[in-house]
Amino acid sequence: MGPSLTPARTPWWANAVIYQIYPRSFQDSDGDGVGDLPGVTRRLEHVRWLGADAVWLSPFYPSPMADGGYDVSDYTDVDPRYGSLADFDRMLRRAHEVGLRVIVDLVANHTSIEHPWFRDHPDWYVWSDDVPGNNWVAAFGGPAWSFDSRRGRWYLHSFYPEQPDLDWRNPEVVAAMHGVVRFWRNRGVDGFRIDAADRLGKDPELRDDPPATAPPAFPENEQYAKLAHGHSKGNPSVKAALQAMRDAAGDAFLVGEAYVPAADYERYLGPVDVMFAFELLWAEWNVTALRRAIERALEQGGVAWATSNHDVPRAATRLGPNRARTAALLLLTLPGPAFVYQGEEIGMRDGDPADPPLDRAGRDGARHPMQWEPDPLGGFTTGRPWLPLSDPLQTSVAGQRGDPNSMLALYRRLIALRREMKGRLEWLESPEETLSFRRGRHRILLNLSTDPLELPAGNAVVVRTDGQDGATLPPDSGAILA
Ligand code: BGC
Ligand code: MG
Repeated sequence: MGPSLTPARTPWWANAVIYQIYPRSFQDSDGDGVGDLPGVTRRLEHVRWLGADAVWLSPFYPSPMADGGYDVSDYTDVDPRYGSLADFDRMLRRAHEVGLRVIVDLVANHTSIEHPWFRDHPDWYVWSDDVPGNNWVAAFGGPAWSFDSRRGRWYLHSFYPEQPDLDWRNPEVVAAMHGVVRFWRNRGVDGFRIDAADRLGKDPELRDDPPATAPPAFPENEQYAKLAHGHSKGNPSVKAALQAMRDAAGDAFLVGEAYVPAADYERYLGPVDVMFAFELLWAEWNVTALRRAIERALEQGGVAWATSNHDVPRAATRLGPNRARTAALLLLTLPGPAFVYQGEEIGMRDGDPADPPLDRAGRDGARHPMQWEPDPLGGFTTGRPWLPLSDPLQTSVAGQRGDPNSMLALYRRLIALRREMKGRLEWLESPEETLSFRRGRHRILLNLSTDPLELPAGNAVVVRTDGQDGATLPPDSGAILA
């Protein structure tokens, strides 16, 4: 066959801004202190106003909540805390009406230990008879094997012991997950985020992971980081598992989540459209590291950008307020889908963990309720929030809406501008410790140095993160010129 004469259509997600909703913390609608789907529906207006193209919802399925919902006990229903399937349908319909696509989370590697499958289909999981099967360590620390006293055997869990790993080499597992994907596709969802995608391929012989010979690419649990994870994840069989989900998903958007550097994307891309660029999220704040992270991801030709999510400290906490603004400018000027985690658009900082912490891996800080209004309950709930509000009096959507220099105004402006930002990224020469690239007619400039940077003459300044209008750009800030 000769080349096709019709040019390939650009898919909707190619340059999309996708807003991540953590349903438990977004908007409560019934006063029980827990966010819910009717709450999401009510706040879609905000997402639309911000200018995003889609929402990704973290899991809202029935769950004992050992891992904030990433321990699913029924893939085809809604947890009663969050509402019902009818609430989901209403949310989806409303989203589509206002022009937002909807992506849901597919937790394919493991179920909750309370999922009926664990009881009724033990052969869908990974077991070892007498002793733990090998030396693998769970991502949050501790051995990756736990003893099931009912069966007198050890089961594998890449994450918490309440999350037994499915055995993707069993065709019945593949068929079951195919059914899950079809279920949500038939309801009308537009895409899936495949959780822990790298875990779907494991060494078939369950060989030990060798000791680590280098520090991990990203922050990791200390015990977990002592091993190199060549056998516990990333086995080439992962492609077939992902292809099975692609077959079920049709042309839906698939974004893979694997906590791996860009050099590994190759194992996942193809069946999956894009992979999250964790290298950028964790890049040190200097020219070499940022540029390398961007280049490496772009070279792989299938990248989704994010500067934060529900698993990591928030950008304002990691980087401080000025750099967080500049990181937003960078995020929203890169080619490829960009994910914005709820609350980042108002520069929310991490809150204090619950005492004792709710998440054993220390991720409470990034999961505090969304701050809509400058009042003590932040407009999030009328009841007792499941995790206290952090600083709604200082930081809220309503508090920033009228302020042209707010983080919220900056995000909205950047998202609007992104629509005009077509074409590839071309690096430009710029003074030391500054970063500059072109996207079509726009030139992006980041000052990472400790000195003010002279803005090039003859260009109009379209956006600047520092909110000033002088001829120089202060340290830690960025600008878009045209
Ligand atoms: C999710 C985490 C979750 C883990 C296990 C991740 O990558 O983002 O929140 O704990 O997968 O499902
Ligand atoms: Mg509620």
